[in-house]
Amino acid sequence: MKTVTLSTLRARKQAGEPFSCLTAYDASFARAASEAGIEVLLVGDSLGMVLQGHASTLPVTLDDICYHTRCVARGKGASLLMVDLPFMSNSSQERLLQDAGELMRAGAELVKVEGEAWMADGIRELTRRGVPVCAHLGLTPQTVYQLGGYKVQGRDAERAGQILEDARTLVDAGASVILLECVPASLGRAVSEALEVPVIGIGAGPDVDGQILVMHDVLGVTHGRTPRFVKNFLAEAEDVQSAFRRYHEDVKARRFPAEAHCF
Ligand code: KIV
Ligand code: NA
Repeated sequence: MKTVTLSTLRARKQAGEPFSCLTAYDASFARAASEAGIEVLLVGDSLGMVLQGHASTLPVTLDDICYHTRCVARGKGASLLMVDLPFMSNSSQERLLQDAGELMRAGAELVKVEGEAWMADGIRELTRRGVPVCAHLGLTPQTVYQLGGYKVQGRDAERAGQILEDARTLVDAGASVILLECVPASLGRAVSEALEVPVIGIGAGPDVDGQILVMHDVLGVTHGRTPRFVKNFLAEAEDVQSAFRRYHEDVKARRFPAEAHCF
């Protein structure tokens, strides 16, 4: 695979070719995912749940994320490295810029931040300074206590319209990528069609530009309730490497997500 950059993702969108993304937390799995052709690796704050065993992503610190970013950066190969800003990094403009700076120094190539239209100023300041941003909308796990649980967002027309408008505002502010989590497939399609930038989905239906999953879900190491949008690719594969390849190929061929994985 040629080195993946933001231009690669834009070109994929223009060509109507879906790309695959996967979370990664260490060098070995990062290498396996990259060798499988997965275009984007995300050091997600989901590490608070899948690695640290917390009930949410809120306890994850900037140092935790930086540590895993340095690990993944050593194994990422040609994949693009996206990294989450942790809970409360957006508590002030100054903190946002400093925390994003730390992530970039640790190896991030694209920084992901949760937040609605009010994040526009922060995103503008980051992009001005050369930090590309992915804006995460829909179900934003850092606000789970306010949302009252991990629930599908944008089922009603009003909230769906708001999510689309927020996505537009954040792209106008400079966001290079939008990520939509747990929204109806119709909204995923609408946002992807309305925007020039690549839209990555998790539980956002088949008609977005890229798909992302948490690595543990792809390998069937999920505890508790399995969300509707995940698939265990190891169940039909011989090893981790082929599970990653299968996921990548199923995304490329638009076999994943299937109807059963969508809202
Ligand atoms: O932290 C994470 O893994 C994420 C993905 C689920 C999109 O934000
Ligand atoms: Na996250």
